Amino acid sequence: MKSAVCPGSFDPITFGHLDIIERASRHFDQVIVAVLENRTKASLFSVEERMEMIRENTKKFPNVVVDSWHGLLVEYCRTNGVDTIVKGLRAVTDFDYELQMAQVNLQAAQVETMFMATAPTHSFLSSSLVKELAHYGGDVSSMVPVNVNEALRARLAGK
Ligand code: PNS
Repeated sequence: MKSAVCPGSFDPITFGHLDIIERASRHFDQVIVAVLENRTKASLFSVEERMEMIRENTKKFPNVVVDSWHGLLVEYCRTNGVDTIVKGLRAVTDFDYELQMAQVNLQAAQVETMFMATAPTHSFLSSSLVKELAHYGGDVSSMVPVNVNEALRARLAGK
């Protein structure tokens, strides 16, 4: 069985992430959406909350599972017998950072990274942008699923 991992902080998941996950699920027997820590970002939602939002929106894909990991992505891959990472590339601004991570993961553990071009409709979309918009009361309903929109409103209401 050929598995791939779609890693990310998913804080929270957006339609851009979901597009990559769905498209990846057509090319692998199993896709594992793995919620990991990104030490450069402070998170709004707990790992469990993020996983639940992802589960709700990926349950229609029978070969997609949701997991989490504290530590290096390559350790997750080694522990779970996965040798392929799938990531979305939005624009050239993503490239330097993503290329570095892909090369580190290849050198450290021979784990391959495959990049999928983000659909043009999602090329500007990021979790950080969604949080910024939602923080100031902006409408993010075209960017995230309903349950994520509700969770954002609830979380930001008291702030
Ligand atoms: O959605 P993001 O924030 O761009 O995802 C980045 C993530 C979580 C995939 C990345 O930070 C990561 O792999 N974190 C786990 C630690 C790790 O393996 N770092 C890369 C090698 S130093």
